[in-house]
Amino acid sequence: MSKTRVLTGITTSGTPHLGNYVGAIRPALASAQAADVENFYFLADFHALVKCGDPARVQRSTLEIAATWLACGLDVEKNWFYRQSDIPEIPELTWFLTCVAGKGLLNRAHAYKAAVDKNRAEGEDDDAGINAGLFMYPVLMAADILIFNANKVPVGRDQIQHIEMARDFGQRFNHLYGEHFVLPEVVIDDNVATLPGLDGRKMSKSYDNTIPLFTPRAELKKLIAGILTDSRAPGEPKDTEGSAVFQLYQAFASKEETRAFAQAFADGIGWGDAKQKLFERIDAEVAPLREKYEALMAKPAEIEAILRDGAARLRSQHATPTLAQLRAAVGLRDLSQLPAAATPAKKATDALPVFKQYREADGKFYFKLVLGERVLLQSAGFDSPRDAGVRIASIKSGALDGDVTDFALGEGVGSDEVNAALAAFVAAQLDDARS
Ligand code: TRP
Repeated sequence: MSKTRVLTGITTSGTPHLGNYVGAIRPALASAQAADVENFYFLADFHALVKCGDPARVQRSTLEIAATWLACGLDVEKNWFYRQSDIPEIPELTWFLTCVAGKGLLNRAHAYKAAVDKNRAEGEDDDAGINAGLFMYPVLMAADILIFNANKVPVGRDQIQHIEMARDFGQRFNHLYGEHFVLPEVVIDDNVATLPGLDGRKMSKSYDNTIPLFTPRAELKKLIAGILTDSRAPGEPKDTEGSAVFQLYQAFASKEETRAFAQAFADGIGWGDAKQKLFERIDAEVAPLREKYEALMAKPAEIEAILRDGAARLRSQHATPTLAQLRAAVGLRDLSQLPAAATPAKKATDALPVFKQYREADGKFYFKLVLGERVLLQSAGFDSPRDAGVRIASIKSGALDGDVTDFALGEGVGSDEVNAALAAFVAAQLDDARS
């Protein structure tokens, strides 16, 4: 069974806050424990450039977010952990997808549309002050996801449309060039709380109401003391509903603790005391992580090395071979593989090799390339017919490249013979296309 691939990205444009921790980081790491998943965690630093024109801030945020993942327990031996800009195949795929993406669909992306609507409301030109990065944002995000054939993408509700677009672009590409991409599914966890911020609205950088996750203890206490409450005096019963203090507490406490806290509200706990309890509860969870975070932040070179290592391994195992296939699929091919194209058109009677796909008793999927009675290639077993199909497509479009381990030459067959057969294949396809 191949593992389910789960991919999580965070844009590197700010300092991680309690809302990011509760809403994204903590659940992502909790679900990483499952044995049948392969996790991809990455720092979306290309995405950060869309909104943030401040280089020092992008750098700082990249370090902070990387240190946060690591401090919170991300195991870089068992999970993929990398920085988007360390994988040049991502922007390359972005271009391929750009060329299949419908411009009309991008026009309807929420973030872009909101910017246009704002311009209209202000009597400006539709696209005044809008950079094309904002417009293309969904295509870059689709490349992040499709390049690793992620099955599941856990996101907040505001990102659902982006996942749908990734599916759309992936499907269009598959339709034009063959089955290359898995269509990702969005995962929305309703059990994950949306945290209120200091003013009671959703905790968000754009409302400037956040509590930084690893702010020092004294600062954490001060910020919590500033959370908006109603003006009920100690001794008066308090509502839990709509109380930011209560909701924040709930996000960190067990069911029992939450029940006891609700009772204290009913019994008229003073806001000062309630905030003290909230502070102690959050700090109990965060303090040990904060210590790790501070140690990591003191060694940025180590974090840099971890990120580079993750990207290097991910490139060699996935991104680079995948792009080689995709390049061939779209027609960016080695010209020397087309000797037959220059020779006079083949007679229709000339034998063409054929790929035969089949399944063995071991449950795996195989293919062979046969020319008449002769077996030219014999593949190893693939987990799915799709995997086998993708491999066939790559062989068809590229001929034999360097080291191959997933198929062998047939008995007594030389690679020149196979290459000639494949060239005939390509030539026949060209003839088809011409006629
Ligand atoms: N757009 C996402 C956000 O703002 C970040 C992101 C970029 C992302 N690429 C991604 C998330 C790919 C999931 C998958 O939250």
